Amino acid sequence: MGIFSLATRGMNAATQFKILQRHLFAFSKHLTAKKMWNFILSEYNSAAKKSRCLSYPYILKIEPSNICNLQCVYCYDNRRPPEKGERPYGRMSSRNFKKLIDEVGPYLFKVNLYGFGEPFLFPETFDMIKYATEKNIGVGVSSNLNIDDAMLPGKIVQSGLETLIFSCHGVTPENYAKFMVKGNMDLAMRNIKAVIKKRKELGSRTPLIDWQFCVTRFNQGELDIAKAMAKEIGIDQIRFIRPFFPDEAAEEWQSDLFPKNNFRPGVDNPPGCSWIYRSAYINYDGNLLPCCRDFRRMSNDFGNVFTESFAAVWNNDKYVNSRKLVANPKDKSIHCDTLCSQCPVTYTE
Ligand SMILES: C[S@@+](CC[C@H](N)C(=O)[O-])C[C@H]1O[C@@H](n2cnc3c(N)ncnc32)[C@H](O)[C@@H]1O
Repeated sequence: MGIFSLATRGMNAATQFKILQRHLFAFSKHLTAKKMWNFILSEYNSAAKKSRCLSYPYILKIEPSNICNLQCVYCYDNRRPPEKGERPYGRMSSRNFKKLIDEVGPYLFKVNLYGFGEPFLFPETFDMIKYATEKNIGVGVSSNLNIDDAMLPGKIVQSGLETLIFSCHGVTPENYAKFMVKGNMDLAMRNIKAVIKKRKELGSRTPLIDWQFCVTRFNQGELDIAKAMAKEIGIDQIRFIRPFFPDEAAEEWQSDLFPKNNFRPGVDNPPGCSWIYRSAYINYDGNLLPCCRDFRRMSNDFGNVFTESFAAVWNNDKYVNSRKLVANPKDKSIHCDTLCSQCPVTYTE
């Protein structure tokens, strides 16, 4: 399993390279002796397939809120209300975020501060970015920038945000709103231009602006226009990606670039799972998942890092059994009924 497979699964080489560049930037900028030692230990645990980890993750995905202003196609089941046993909508408090960072922050190079909601809807997100930045952690946020607030660009640049992933899946208002339902492309474009202007005015190198464009049948004819627009506006990089659509997604949404079901775990990506050693996904309510697979059903949660310490959850029975299973997927004596036992990546060894 390659060291840099984290978060680049199933992407083409050019896209992987752009993500790795960002990881390497965060790695070198935020390096300390403690982080370096933890990184080595973590990679050793991963290579040796240890079931208990003395190391901590070195990159975390933390969701400030699962509430969103848009209704993107197939995202969060099109925003249907939660059913029994499913996670309600809600927000993380700055206090809980700080508690988590105080424990795990000394080991982290990077926090990706977004999940399935819109992070910039709520003021606490800016506090969280500032807090993590002051603790020498690079913060990345993904946003649709559909927020009508003249102060937003200044707040983004002044927060110290390291990377801004700009979600924009179309360059004509019709195609944009077909995917980003309830979205306003003109507002998003005005905002991204204003962030770039503010960054220049304040003489700041950050945030790096990374346009993430989910390719579908409807917008696949717009890729060259998007590249030209990105250059003209001053966007640092643009990436065309496969949207996360469920298996049953309608054929009419699948692009020629990323046709349906042509991704083969273990063939199109390195075998085995790295998330259980290097990272984790923290929902707004503090409930931890090993990755962002199947995040609605609360019985999938591994434990709560607000009511317990992160360290206690990281080596609890669910984690230990999952790591044992990932290390030995054919061993029938391992009792593991977590999400990892249903994941195809586990069985790619
Ligand atoms: C679900 S969004 C939430 C964060 C934020 N609201 C945003 O729009 O960027 C997180 C990332 O998922 C990507 N994504 C992939 N497939 C998606 C889909 N079907 N619907 C919405 N976003 C999708 C987006 O481009 C975005 O970078």
